[in-house]
Amino acid sequence: MDKTFKVAVVGATGAVGEAMLSILAERGFPVSELVALASERSAGGKVKFGHRDVVVQDLATFDPAGVDIALFSAGGSVSKEYAPKFADAGAVVIDNSSAFRYDDDVPLVVSEVNPEAVGGRPRGIIANPNCSTMQMLVALKPLHDAAGIERINVATYQSVSGGGRSAMEELGRQTARILNFQDPQPEKFPVQIAFNLIPQIDAFQDNGYTKEEMKLVWETRKILGDDRIQVNPTAVRVPVFFGHSEAVNIETREKLTAARARELLASAPGVEVVDDRVPGGYPTPVTHASGNDAVFVGRIREDLSHPRGLNLWIVSDNIRKGAALNAVQVAELVAAQLNGR
Ligand code: A2P
Repeated sequence: MDKTFKVAVVGATGAVGEAMLSILAERGFPVSELVALASERSAGGKVKFGHRDVVVQDLATFDPAGVDIALFSAGGSVSKEYAPKFADAGAVVIDNSSAFRYDDDVPLVVSEVNPEAVGGRPRGIIANPNCSTMQMLVALKPLHDAAGIERINVATYQSVSGGGRSAMEELGRQTARILNFQDPQPEKFPVQIAFNLIPQIDAFQDNGYTKEEMKLVWETRKILGDDRIQVNPTAVRVPVFFGHSEAVNIETREKLTAARARELLASAPGVEVVDDRVPGGYPTPVTHASGNDAVFVGRIREDLSHPRGLNLWIVSDNIRKGAALNAVQVAELVAAQLNGR
């Protein structure tokens, strides 16, 4: 008989942690015991796991002995301190932060793209990629396999939920203030986010790109296992609550027609093509992505300016496929392996 697992969710009160709990329940993950962990601030409160309420415990005083699988989404510094402790106590850690993503001995896994990588985890830690990289690669993998992607130009349109609960609250608060002719008072974002666009996510690097942009470069190469792929990203925060969008232009070694790309994407796991060339015949964060699992692809067209160029519009729920859903899918791969499959 298949095993069931003691599962811990670290950051259970956060936007991603909450989605992890509901997705574990929705997909019927074989849980023998569910532990919800957060900071001392929320200890004693309750979170939902399916129809059940689970009492939140303080991560700092929790003993990880006996935990089989731990899903972490409480920020990089929490992961750095606690993920190794859980792994040393015998848990397989699936970490949503960027703390371990670039370590050679930590696999970085998108369940549809490189599921085989879950097997090589010498430190007991598996990293979940950044949300923007995640959705982009679910769509680009079948095209890369068919035609060899040499270069990716991508501009992202990233929703505020990627910045956590406080970022969503700031968009709501600023929207109300502006509609009341009050000063928007930026706190979390460097400038006003309501009715605006911010071409900066995370810190600037020495080369002029932001860290969010460099994540797309580093993670694409690591996940596809190909250091020759050139990636040129611009990451922009937009006043949308849920769902990241990406305008992607690829240059391939072999010519890929729009028709062939559409065919490949239509049968790709995790992808849904919405490409009708009529008003509304394309995916948007609100009409398609929010609350759904798929990576939606539309606006598929050949690049007028390049003989082997192709344009795509890729939209997905950053909290689900971009974070919580992929973490649970990776947990499913781990569970299958622990069950000897
Ligand atoms: P808490 O609610 O107790 O602050 P989000 O990204 O949506 O802001 O969520 C962050 C998550 O990480 C929350 O569940 C938050 O718990 C948790 N968290 C933040 N700091 C810590 C910490 N030092 N120890 C444990 N959990 C933490």
